[in-house]
This record gives sequence, C-alpha cells and structure tokens, in this order.
Amino acid sequence: MNLAPHLNKTITPTPITAIHHFFKDLSRYRVWLKRDDLTGLELSGNKVRKLDFLLAEARAEDAERIITCGGVHSNHCRSTAFYATQLGLKTTLVLRGTEPKIKTGNYLLNEVLDADIHLISAREYEKVDEVMAEIREAASEKAYIIPEGGSNEIGAWGYVKAFMEISEQISVHNLPIDTIAVATGSGGTHAGLLLGKLLSKSPLNVVSVNVCDDADFFVRKIGTIIERFCRRYNYHLNWQDTDIHIIDGFVGEGYGLIGPTETDLIRRFARSEGIIIDPVYGAKAMRGLEVHLKQGTFPGENILFIHTGGIFGLFSYHEQL
Ligand SMILES: Cc1ncc(COP(=O)(O)O)c(C=O)c1O
Repeated sequence: MNLAPHLNKTITPTPITAIHHFFKDLSRYRVWLKRDDLTGLELSGNKVRKLDFLLAEARAEDAERIITCGGVHSNHCRSTAFYATQLGLKTTLVLRGTEPKIKTGNYLLNEVLDADIHLISAREYEKVDEVMAEIREAASEKAYIIPEGGSNEIGAWGYVKAFMEISEQISVHNLPIDTIAVATGSGGTHAGLLLGKLLSKSPLNVVSVNVCDDADFFVRKIGTIIERFCRRYNYHLNWQDTDIHIIDGFVGEGYGLIGPTETDLIRRFARSEGIIIDPVYGAKAMRGLEVHLKQGTFPGENILFIHTGGIFGLFSYHEQL
C-alpha cells in the first residue's frame, strides 16, 4: 500500500511487551502492551504518528506556522509545538482553560518552548475551529491548522501505518493476538487502526474505550474520519457503523477529571509492571479493559493494549496522586 507523504520523526517500531503481573489472575486472557509511549520524548505518544503525516502536508504547503488546539494540559499540543520547532516552524496553541496555578507538565514545556499560547474558555472553545481560522487570517506568515488531536483523514494515516507495524510484529514474533485495544479521545487513533484493518483485510479486532462523550458520538466521529479518508484518497472500503467497537462507561467524572478509580489503577499498574499509565486516557482505558476482563465480557482473548503515552500529563494531577 502506498502511504500518504510523511516525515519520519517517530521512533518506530515501538516494542510489544507482555503484561506480566497486572492481569495474572485472569487465566483466560493474555494481554500485551504496545509501547507507543516510547515514540520519542518531547514527541512522545500516539500524536506523533499522526503529526508525521500532518506536518508533511504543512511543509508541502510551505507553512511557517502551525496552529492547533486542545485542553490546557493537552499532550497533542505539546507534541505539535515540539515537532514544529524541530522543523523550524512557529506554533500557536489555542488551549481550553485558564493558566494553571502551578505551571507543570505539558503546559510548562510549551512555555519553555515559547509557543504562542491563547487561553480560551470552554464556551469559546465550542467554536475553536473559527477561533483558529481567525488566528490564521491575522497571522503574518502562512499558517497551517491541525484540528483537535490531529484527528482527521490525514492524521489517521499515522495509525494505518501503526496497524501495519503491529501486523508485522505479530507475524514475525508469532504472537497469538486477536484484538487491539486503545483509548479514544478524539477518534483519530481508532479510525486509523480500523482503516489499517480494512485496507489490509486483517482479521484483527479493533476496540477502544472512550474517555469523553459517549459511544454514539465516537461511532459518528470515527465514521466521518473514515468516510473523508476514503473520499480524499479514493478508497472503496466495505464497512458499516457496527464495525466501530467502542467500550463505553469509563469516562468517570468527565474528560480530564480523575478520581480514586484512576489514581488507584495508575498506582497498581506502576507497582506491578513498573510502567506509568497516564491519568486522562490510559488509566480510563485500562480500567475498561480490567473490568471487562474480570467480568469475562471483553471482546477478544489475546489483547494488545496500545499505551498511547501522556506521561507529562501526570504531573498536573500531582494533588490527586
Ligand atoms: C495520551 C493519549 N492517549 C490517547 C489519546 C486518544 O487518542 P485520539 O485522540 O486519537 O482518540 C490521546 C489524545 O487524545 C492522548 O493524548
């Protein structure tokens, strides 16, 4: 398959390791971890795979500034700002929220980088695409807008490519994996994985646990990304809404809000595996996996959980932890 033009700043292939202790009481299931938290340091996590494609397009359009958006502690915004800087481009970040009392994590890193930060309220953020369009109009240089989470038909290529990487690893290492599980926050990662499955006619299942909104919302959002991908790159894929498997029920208090369930999971996982899971995405998705494995209701028995990174996000939750 011919991939869309992309840069190669992501450190791949990321390793697949067995989860040795955390699920040891669940004899029916086996779980592996795809370490996409190791795609880089400043450029860590799942976002960078999408940015490989999005920033290739920005470059092709001769953009000198990248504009993107997210929550005040967004991993995607930090990754974008660092990636753009490595390419010699300027960045404007439109962040939902107020200046944190203690500057830490991704926010601190954005400031160290001297990215232009525009803080807006949750109300204003409802029209964030318009806000970004206005910033582009007012910019003195050519600017390229990346939507929230890099989740569009271009960014989705990042996880089409990752799906190919996973398929290759499964085959080379003879792993019995039947299902890929991941967190969903803006839908691009799940959309890319499902596109990878459809394009390669793979039998692997793709499921995700939503960390905001609900399953219906993500079936629509992921479906839209797949439709746009097919239109733009001229693919005729056979799929329907029921192919988009979302495990709902683990949003907890809301997006970006964490309570004892998540802090407990982060501690237990760190103490059993020696690996940190992020609070906003990984902890909720891993909790969904754990609950369904314990109930015996998880769709799949040999599961590859994608660790999507977000380590810097942990530090803004120091009070809860
Ligand atoms: C660490 C982390 N994991 C998972 C996700 C979810 O990925 P997506 O937005 O593609 O659904 C995000 C971003 O939203 C993230 O920052």
